[in-house]
Amino acid sequence: MAFDFHKDRNKYFYLQYNNSRDYILPFIQKYKKIKSKEKILEIGCRDGGVLKPFIDLSCECFGVDLSKKHISDAKKIYEKEIKKNQVHFFVQDIYDFINENKDKKKFDIIILKDVIEHIFDHKKLIQNVKKILNKNACIYLGFPPWQNPYGGHQQVCKNKFLALMPYYHILPNFIYLSLIKNDPSFLFLKDTKNTKITPSIFEKIIKKENFEILYRDMYFISPMYKYKFGLKPRKLWKFLEKKNYLRNFFTTTCDYLIKIK
Ligand SMILES: C[S@@+](CC[C@H](N)C(=O)[O-])C[C@H]1O[C@@H](n2cnc3c(N)ncnc32)[C@H](O)[C@@H]1O
Repeated sequence: MAFDFHKDRNKYFYLQYNNSRDYILPFIQKYKKIKSKEKILEIGCRDGGVLKPFIDLSCECFGVDLSKKHISDAKKIYEKEIKKNQVHFFVQDIYDFINENKDKKKFDIIILKDVIEHIFDHKKLIQNVKKILNKNACIYLGFPPWQNPYGGHQQVCKNKFLALMPYYHILPNFIYLSLIKNDPSFLFLKDTKNTKITPSIFEKIIKKENFEILYRDMYFISPMYKYKFGLKPRKLWKFLEKKNYLRNFFTTTCDYLIKIK
């Protein structure tokens, strides 16, 4: 079911921008002052709204996305900045982008906002991203644990009932997949369920890859909902945050800032 912000590209761009300016940027700035000319990479950048606050700080920004349409929109939005060589966009799979990195570019900040839950093999992703980090670089990630009310991304279903019903993506696959089998987004929904990211899985992977967590915030009401639905953001209760399994059902987003030890 599409909300008005899904249909209105301009509105969605500004949702991304406002959330990035008010939450992502200050979250990163808790760790480091962001300087002009620093290299920022957003993986899965869509049309680049998340990058705008960094562009406003005169950083050199790079956006990679699989979608031709999103990157074409981004190129129109940032025509001026692209001409000045301040912003660069690529239609590419992140694995290809990293492997074909001819000029061996490295980045000071890498952003993955609502993206890791769409990419298979999280361990491989973290190992690859590690190759393109500058010294003292950090990575910001925001993602919903897969068991959360809409962790299957079923809100994209055409059928209103299937789009609004929470939690049913947790049902065994033979039930869940038969419920969504006629939806145009079937493959996307199936993949999203299969990637199954949670804070515990994520933390286990990054620990093995020698990363440390600088900051972690878990939200019961995601900051993005302020811009999407006018709701006040609310962090998860501390006692629930400590319950590794239970918290996944009540966390709409968790934000991480990590760096190599
Ligand atoms: C839910 S959107 C998030 C967009 C943006 N980061 C935001 O916060 O609004 C996920 C994006 O990741 C992109 N994506 C998924 N897998 C990718 C991959 N392997 N390489 C590059 N981009 C990918 C998708 O095309 C999509 O635009």
